Amino acid sequence: MTRASFVVLDGADGCGKSTQARLLVDRMRLERGIEPLHVREPGSTQLGERLRAILFDRALDLSPRVELLLFAAARAQLLSELVAPALAAGRDVVCERFHPSTFAYQSVAGGLDEELVMRTLLEHANKPEPDALIVLDLPLELALARRGEASDRIEAKDEAYHGRVVEGYRIWSRRHARTRLVDATGDPASVHARVWEAVRRAR
Ligand SMILES: Nc1ncnc2c1ncn2[C@@H]1O[C@H](COP(=O)(O)OP(=O)(O)OP(=O)(O)O)[C@@H](O)[C@H]1O
Ligand SMILES: [Mg+2]
Repeated sequence: MTRASFVVLDGADGCGKSTQARLLVDRMRLERGIEPLHVREPGSTQLGERLRAILFDRALDLSPRVELLLFAAARAQLLSELVAPALAAGRDVVCERFHPSTFAYQSVAGGLDEELVMRTLLEHANKPEPDALIVLDLPLELALARRGEASDRIEAKDEAYHGRVVEGYRIWSRRHARTRLVDATGDPASVHARVWEAVRRAR
């Protein structure tokens, strides 16, 4: 039997992460006969869900620097409390969002110094490392249409910001060989076939 893998699904708001995560979890359960752990960022731990409520609260005005620190704290907690034990127990892990989101939103779109972002993440939230990072790539108009009305503080930022987010993911993917940029257009089953192929190649 293959060993457990830690797979990240990332990409802009509305690109299809949650839809693809569910399909991937079903596929992994069938493949290895063990229930995968499915988590989302920020969240999934008690601390993470509380930080999520703060991060997405439209009544708060948070700078990209403060966002970075809160996202990093949520990620550190998730990795130690849930991801590491699941992998140690032989369970696959599917995580919605990870470092590429922090790079795209807080640095490329938010303007925060790239060195600071990477240093903070590598210092505080880098173990265990994902075996595969899949970025779902969708043109901004399609992602906005799938997403619908903005529902939280970050989704409510303007279209220029979200355009930079999409570009930020592409920049990240060009720079990190372990990240696969997957075309997220088409129906969920076609996207899943591309995601599964990318996961297979990465492991
Ligand atoms: N391949 C697809 N084609 C058309 N619609 C899709 C596709 N994948 C997902 N959707 C729909 O688009 C919407 C957003 O999808 P989903 O919730 O999976 O995205 P997400 O990346 O998790 O979004 P968020 O960043 O808001 O969590 C949902 O209504 C979903 O049903
Ligand atoms: Mg989602």
